[in-house]
Amino acid sequence: MIYGRDINMTNKVVVGSQWGDEGKAKITDILAHDADLIIRYQGGCNAGHTVVADNKTYKFHLIPSGILYKGKTCFLGAGTVILPEFFEQEVNELIAHGIDVSGLKISPLASITMPYHTEVDGYSESTAGKGKIGTTKKGIGPTYTDKAARIGLKIGDLYNLETLNEKLDIILPLKNKTLEKVYGLQPYTKDCILALCEKYAQIFKPYVCFEWQELLENFRKKQILFEGAQGVMLDVDYGTYPFVTSSNPIGGGAATGSGYGPTMIDEVIGVAKAYVTRVGEGPFVTELTDETGEKIREIGHEFGVTTGRPRRCGWFDAVIMRYSVLVGGLTSIALTKADVFDSFDEIKVCTAYKDTRDGKVYTHYPTDVFMHKYLEPVYETHKGWKSDISKIREYENLPENCRKYLERLEELLGVPVSIVSVGPDREQTIFRK
Ligand code: IMP
Repeated sequence: MIYGRDINMTNKVVVGSQWGDEGKAKITDILAHDADLIIRYQGGCNAGHTVVADNKTYKFHLIPSGILYKGKTCFLGAGTVILPEFFEQEVNELIAHGIDVSGLKISPLASITMPYHTEVDGYSESTAGKGKIGTTKKGIGPTYTDKAARIGLKIGDLYNLETLNEKLDIILPLKNKTLEKVYGLQPYTKDCILALCEKYAQIFKPYVCFEWQELLENFRKKQILFEGAQGVMLDVDYGTYPFVTSSNPIGGGAATGSGYGPTMIDEVIGVAKAYVTRVGEGPFVTELTDETGEKIREIGHEFGVTTGRPRRCGWFDAVIMRYSVLVGGLTSIALTKADVFDSFDEIKVCTAYKDTRDGKVYTHYPTDVFMHKYLEPVYETHKGWKSDISKIREYENLPENCRKYLERLEELLGVPVSIVSVGPDREQTIFRK
């Protein structure tokens, strides 16, 4: 027993280890099968998680995909930011699909994305010029900004009119001044915000969990899955700042965003694609702007779930992945989309960066991303396996070149590849023994 828990039960965190869109939802969905409680710990509806189950495709943005299993508890932790109308729509779609949402709970400490957050996000992006981040325009950054500035609204505030009034008297004058003077946007009256809050209170009422401490205590001895959104390279502290999201997708984010702290985490599984994609602006040393990049995008269907934007594609980058293993706290890798390379003659892996100015070679990730324009990838080339791996279910049955490729990735990253995904379905998954 450790911390009162059976040591055979491992609590896992699933994190994206690149720039998001690595296929976390599928891995989370599979691991959720054995979990009692699934907690989403950061981000908001900027995430887009696709799960294929029982021949149906579900697209999640906010709600943990574990909701597809009957009887599981899914919790949106204090580290998340929630756009009420989006939440309502997602819940309604699940109900329309016949999914039981009675296990869905929200922390009263989660932050609310207000209409002015979305407006400011849209405004900032449309006027930023060179400073554009390429955000999802879902108000994520402005919501976290207000949270850190201590002028945000939390879900719990909606249910105490005295608190809400007191808070709005502080927040609103400040907010309106910035909206008008900095952004040239319309101010909000207190009545308008109060009316919105009344509507939001109704939306969240069936799900808000004021007894969240009891809930977490009750699950302490059970199996917990922490579901991350976005990816390590989009982490606000460790990612390609400022081209990042505004929360902490790293494994450590699960400790702050869930309410459980680090002692409840046993494993951190980093989901990585066999190549790399990125949406939005920011450096991407292995990006392919040629027909190879186009081929990866077409075969891998690399278009954003939330925004529909074509994703930028490039070769697997062991420099960012080693960094991700370190700062993300990864204990193993779940590699997805290896099947996208089935028809490729050659597959490249970036092992280091070379500075084109002085020839200096970097094997550690250089964090000054404004210098990345001077870096070029140093590649090693692997022979393709030239066969369909999507129907293979045992690691030993993978073609030799594919196994060599995977084992080389393990060598480069220093952690095992514990799961190999060879297609979108739950069944198309290989677990390493
Ligand atoms: P924001 O999170 O909407 O503020 O966007 C900040 C950056 O994170 C942009 O580059 C977005 O494209 C990226 N981003 C946010 N959410 C996701 C995601 O779920 N997948 C991939 N990129 C994301």
